[in-house]
Amino acid sequence: MKKIILAYSGGLDTSIAIRWLKEKGFNVIACLVDIGQVSNKALAREKAKKIGASGVYIIDAKKEFITDYIYPALKANAVYEDKYFLATALSRPLIAEKLVAVAKKEKTKFVAHGCTGKGNDQVRIEVSVAALAKDLKVVAPVREWDFPSREAQVRYAKMHKIPVAATKKSPYSLDQNLWGVSIECGVLEDPAFEPPENAYKITKSAKLTPSKPAYLTVGFRNGEPTTLDKKKYSEIGLIKKLTKIGAAYGVGRSDMIENRLIGIKSREVYEAPAAFILHTAHKELEALVLDRELLHFKKIIGGKYSELIYYGLWHSPLKKALDGFILSTQQNVTGEVKLKLYKGSCVPVARTSEYSLYKEELATYSEKDKFDKKLAEGFIKIWGMPYRK
Ligand code: ARG
Repeated sequence: MKKIILAYSGGLDTSIAIRWLKEKGFNVIACLVDIGQVSNKALAREKAKKIGASGVYIIDAKKEFITDYIYPALKANAVYEDKYFLATALSRPLIAEKLVAVAKKEKTKFVAHGCTGKGNDQVRIEVSVAALAKDLKVVAPVREWDFPSREAQVRYAKMHKIPVAATKKSPYSLDQNLWGVSIECGVLEDPAFEPPENAYKITKSAKLTPSKPAYLTVGFRNGEPTTLDKKKYSEIGLIKKLTKIGAAYGVGRSDMIENRLIGIKSREVYEAPAAFILHTAHKELEALVLDRELLHFKKIIGGKYSELIYYGLWHSPLKKALDGFILSTQQNVTGEVKLKLYKGSCVPVARTSEYSLYKEELATYSEKDKFDKKLAEGFIKIWGMPYRK
């Protein structure tokens, strides 16, 4: 029997995939990469075994996900189409990397995933697998099987005693990890309608949030967040804490029409409280410490970087080259940003840094002023010369 390593999530699709791959003659090994979504490891392991997996790997990749995927995106201010913090997209090259590692360990040439044939995730996983191990073969059961509907899948699952209890209630398709939740399907497919409150999984409706604002101070070192209100946190601890506070204040929701890689426009809803808070703070600190030309140019690079992540090109030479650029911009991104969270909004209200380029004696209109106004006249004459001519 050929061994195959399946990227397993515990959801309906990948659960059915275990059974389906077995029917195709594979010996299935489930590989669950924990990036903050696994609440009960023992249960997940037991479920995969019960459905027929001959082995189960549960890999804790939370810290790696933050330091090697989330932080680079944060340093780049990478937000796809200005609204999506890329929680799902960032996780795919990591999952691919783990699949490849397990395939190597298990000495097999086959890996599988449960992504649909209409989405971005299949592209991200398969392109990453190809970049890391070009001789591996990828099987995508969801692209091959022909269930006419989700109900048909549930019937199949019941027939084969595959537990579906956890998935049957939500009318939405969810993907969740430490960095955020991606929500699709159901009534969200009509972009003319506001998402119902039950579409949101972690954030409170602004209506139900506290009537007083909360203040947070995030400290950064070389572009990476390290403290909250002067207290040091671990990478995981900080994101968890910000997710909790942000969610309680209704921060980090977005509702967008998104351009998928394969050319389809789709309506997507996201929740990413920690991402929203950290991106807001990081951008604010950069505004204080980066030179204007660098800041403006970096914005273009950040846009491109978000596309590379979204398009599954994590392992491309361009991404690597941009990493070099982005890293070199972060040397002075050290300091603190104070944020105000209130009724779904999160805005910076104060910022400090030992590398601040803000000079009060130049900016002030008070008697502290040191700026030589006489120089302005000559500057304006030269700057405006082409237009006068
Ligand atoms: N549209 C997003 C992306 O391509 C999210 C996909 C989420 N997947 C899901 N099963 N809900 O990154």
